[in-house]
Amino acid sequence: HWSVDINVEKRKGYPQISEAADCLRNGHVVAFPTETVYGLGADATSDQAVQGIFDAKGRPSDNPLIVHISDTDDLSGLVAEVSGTASKLMETFWPGPLTIIFNKKSGVFSDLVTAGLETIGIRMPDHPVALELIRRSGRPLAAPSANTSGKPSPTAAAHVAGDLSGRIAGIVDGGETGVGLESTVIDCTVTPPMILRPGGVSAEDIAACIGGVTTDPSLKKEQSAPRSPGMKYTHYAPTAPLYLLEGETKWIQETIQRMQQEGKKVGLLATSELAAEVNADVISICGSRNDPAATARTLYHAIRSFNETDVDMILAESFDEKGIGTAIMNRLEKAAGHKWIRQRSS
Ligand code: TXA
Ligand code: MG
Repeated sequence: HWSVDINVEKRKGYPQISEAADCLRNGHVVAFPTETVYGLGADATSDQAVQGIFDAKGRPSDNPLIVHISDTDDLSGLVAEVSGTASKLMETFWPGPLTIIFNKKSGVFSDLVTAGLETIGIRMPDHPVALELIRRSGRPLAAPSANTSGKPSPTAAAHVAGDLSGRIAGIVDGGETGVGLESTVIDCTVTPPMILRPGGVSAEDIAACIGGVTTDPSLKKEQSAPRSPGMKYTHYAPTAPLYLLEGETKWIQETIQRMQQEGKKVGLLATSELAAEVNADVISICGSRNDPAATARTLYHAIRSFNETDVDMILAESFDEKGIGTAIMNRLEKAAGHKWIRQRSS
């Protein structure tokens, strides 16, 4: 086993990628960067390799994994059929942060990958290290986010090491990820296609590409069963309880002060604009009001950073649910367990 973190930018030609590819071919589990978050990869055709992912993450076995490919030509060997709609989505958004659910071809994947479902989620990541690693391993790679189950996804190699060091064969360090939130998951086995998890590709962009698209209605509710098994679990949660805020800046400041008067240490997760206007015991900044992509990129790191503080609670700014804002709010709602503090009860 090797477990060194290697910075690809310092090494021409990514020599450590062949080492990682060897590990994968031998059935080991390796973390690698993608454009969304770090993934924890294993050979999707091997039961033993895929079991290694579930063991390392402590992931419930009923939560299926996404399979990563480097070439659309590989698809025909993996799925039962590719619809015209799926083709359009692939042409437009691959490589990129869009996972498409297909009916799987039987006898290809380890059953552990699909958690017993007849469908399979596949994506082609838009990251040179991920693509090269998939190519050199010569296998479709099953890869969930490389965090301990329930924690925020890792957007840097250090986050992976913090969660999984000693539990996996190695980490390929490709620096910080770009998008910062996971891929959008869209089910193309139904008509019209249905978004099961909002993510790096917005519903607006998908609608512009294929026309009709729906979103799993259960994502909005706390207690219904989502179609994507993973969406029912507590996720992205920091150690201290997190609450979403809805109200004016002045009210936010008063709310923080009221909590402090109750003896609580209050953390605030906010854009630079809000952070400039209010005080809290600890403030973690995630991007800017007029740059939601920057908020997406830094959100998980900002949430994680509270774990190095002694705050009793975290209050989080809320965002408009359009574009990438839909994915930001989905992750924040889950991190908060849908707990809100509102200026006006609606
Ligand atoms: O951006 C990403 O998608 C990252 C990087 C590493 O590629 N991966 C990732 O994987 O987020 P994971 O395992 O953390 O999340 C996969 C999600 C889960 O919510 C899972 O339930 C859902 O996709 N999923 C996977 N296969 C599915 C299927 N056949 N049907 C419905 N949902 C599926
Ligand atoms: Mg995950």
